[in-house]
Formats: sequence, structure tokens, C-alpha cells
Amino acid sequence: MNFAKSFTPMLILIFTFFPPSSPDPNDQSCLSNLFQSIQDPNHNLINWTKPNFANPCSGFLSYLTGATCNNGRIYKLSLPNFSLHGSISPYISNCTNLQSLDLSNNSLTGSIPNELQYLVNLAVLKLSSNRLSGVIPPSLAMCAYLNVIDLHDNVLTGPIPAQLGSLVRLSVFDVSNNKLSGPIPGSLGNRTGNLPRFNASGYLGNKDLYGYPLGPMKSKGLSVVAIVGIGLGSGLLSLMLSFTVVCVWLRVTDQKMVAEQEGKITQLMPEY
Ligand SMILES: *[C@@H]1O[C@H](CO)[C@@H](O)[C@H](O)[C@H]1NC(C)=O
Ligand SMILES: *[C@@H]1O[C@H](CO)[C@@H](O)[C@H](O)[C@H]1NC(C)=O
Ligand SMILES: *[C@@H]1O[C@H](CO)[C@@H](O)[C@H](O)[C@H]1NC(C)=O
Ligand SMILES: *[C@@H]1O[C@H](CO)[C@@H](O)[C@H](O)[C@H]1NC(C)=O
Ligand SMILES: *[C@@H]1O[C@H](CO)[C@@H](O)[C@H](O)[C@H]1NC(C)=O
Ligand SMILES: *[C@@H]1O[C@H](CO)[C@@H](O)[C@H](O)[C@H]1NC(C)=O
Repeated sequence: MNFAKSFTPMLILIFTFFPPSSPDPNDQSCLSNLFQSIQDPNHNLINWTKPNFANPCSGFLSYLTGATCNNGRIYKLSLPNFSLHGSISPYISNCTNLQSLDLSNNSLTGSIPNELQYLVNLAVLKLSSNRLSGVIPPSLAMCAYLNVIDLHDNVLTGPIPAQLGSLVRLSVFDVSNNKLSGPIPGSLGNRTGNLPRFNASGYLGNKDLYGYPLGPMKSKGLSVVAIVGIGLGSGLLSLMLSFTVVCVWLRVTDQKMVAEQEGKITQLMPEY
């Protein structure tokens, strides 16, 4: 009795400083749903298994390839170069402590989940070299700690959301080689001093994107072919016009000459 009484505060103390790592249901939901939404034809994710999902973190270690833990929570997911197919599950947002998500250089399809906005600690987002389609979610601007947004080499469409300009920590922004269109938002394209906030290289390879640091909007409808066509057409037309004018002029002068000659002839003819 006495022993228990004196031991209880110590236990409380111990559990306060060294809590037993109990698996987090949000991380379990995040990882198992992500695993369901992707296909892994090369079997890189061999230890992404049910028992390992049940306790994805034990201290700093994770039993799952590509997952890194901190304080019993997943804080980094790094699965590049794995030839993964399928899509990014919206349940990824349940990994609420995630700071870094790297799924680059796979074959992922589908859209960038709008739910990424709930990852309020996200600092690094690398989804480059996949086949992701749809728009860049404007709600990404809710992830205030974002440092890196790397989305190059996908098939993303639509405009670059101006809201992303509010991400003050953003130091890498690469959306090159997509199908984005419209003006580069001033908040992302503007200069700090004489230099662009992000190099043009981060915007290149999008046919219909324009504005600083890229060139101005291309004049609509007047392609090179159209300009050449108009040039040739008007050239031909003026040629035909001048030809007609010359013909008419020749005919007129010819008739005049004939008339004059006839006059001369009648004049020369002796009167009988
Ligand atoms: C999971 O798999 C990776 C590589 O496939 C391996 O390096 C790692 O040790 C494995 N982890 C465990 C806990 O088995
Ligand atoms: C992915 O592959 C490239 C080329 O082989 C390599 O340079 C890069 O380090 C790889 N990335 C990771 C995280 O393994
Ligand atoms: C992409 O991943 C493949 C392996 O899946 C690797 O061979 C290739 O070098 C990687 N490319 C880059 C640019 O990382
Ligand atoms: C996980 O994410 C989904 C979709 O965003 C959400 O509906 C759900 O409440 C989240 N939490 C858990 C524990 O599944
Ligand atoms: C760049 O854009 C931001 C956001 O629109 C604005 O606050 C800032 O003054 C601009 N800087 C310059 C140099 O234009
Ligand atoms: C932009 O390009 C210049 C010149 O090519 C280079 O020195 C600089 O490091 C680049 N900056 C960024 C942020 O990529």
C-alpha cells in the first residue's frame, strides 16, 4: 500500500517524459489509404503491410520503407524513383504531422488532392516527373510553411493560383513542363531588386503561360502561318490588281492609237 502510494507519482513522472508510443489512428488511416490508392509493380514497398500499418512508428523508427517518424508520428514520406502507379489518396491529409512529401519520378496519375491543405506543417512538396493532371489547388496556400513546391514534368492544366504568392517561405517553385496557361501571378513573378523571385526555368515548357519572367502574351490567332498567308494573299491580290490596271491602260491606249491612226489614214486619203 505504502509502496504503491509512493510509486504512483514516479510512474506519472516517467510516463510524462517517456510516453509509451501508441500508434496514431490518423497516420494508420493515411498510410493504409495511400497504399490502397497506389500500385507498386516493382515491389519496392515490400514492408508496407497490415501489421506495419498498425504501428507505423516506434519512436524514431518506421517499419515502412520511405517513412520517417518523429515523436511517434510520421513526419516525412519519401518514395521517389519507385515506378509507383495509381493516384495520391486524399487521406494523405491524415498524416497531420507531415513536413515533407516526396513522390517524385513515379508514374502517378489523377489530380493533386485538394486535401493537402490540411497538412499545416508541410514544408516540402515534391510531385515532379509523374503524370498528374488537373489544376494546382489554390488551397495549397493554406500550408503556410511551404518552402518547396516542385511540380515539374506533369500534365497540370489551368492557371498558376495567385494565392501561392502569399507563401512567404517559398524558396523553390518549379512548375516547368506542364500544360499550364494564363499569366504568371505578379506575386510569384515579380522582382526582388533586379532579379525575378523565381527563375524563368521554373516556368518554361508551358505553351500558354506568359508574363514576367517569361515573355508577354503571344498575340492570339496571328500565328506565323497566318502572317505568311496574309502576306502572300495580299501580294497576289496587288499583283492581280496592277495586272488589271496595266491591261486596261494598254487597251485604252491601244484603242486611242487605233483611232488616231484611223484619223491619220482618213486625213492622208486623197479626196476623190
Ligand atoms: C523495409 O524495407 C526496406 C527496403 O526494402 C529495408 O531497408 C528496411 O530495413 C525494411 N524495414 C524493416 C523494418 O523491415
Ligand atoms: C532518383 O534517381 C536519380 C537518378 O538515378 C538519382 O540521382 C536520385 O538521387 C534518386 N533519388 C532518390 C531519392 O533516390
Ligand atoms: C527515375 O527513376 C528511375 C527508376 O524508376 C531511374 O532509373 C531514373 O534515373 C530516375 N530519374 C530521375 C531523373 O531521377
Ligand atoms: C482522414 O481523411 C479523410 C478525408 O480527408 C477524413 O474524412 C477523415 O475524417 C480523416 N480522419 C480519419 C481518422 O480517417
Ligand atoms: C511582389 O509581390 C508581392 C505580393 O503581391 C508584393 O507584396 C511585393 O510588394 C511585390 N514586390 C515588388 C518588388 O514588386
Ligand atoms: C537563377 O538563374 C541564375 C543564372 O542562371 C542562377 O545563378 C541562380 O542560382 C538561379 N536561381 C535560382 C533560385 O534557381
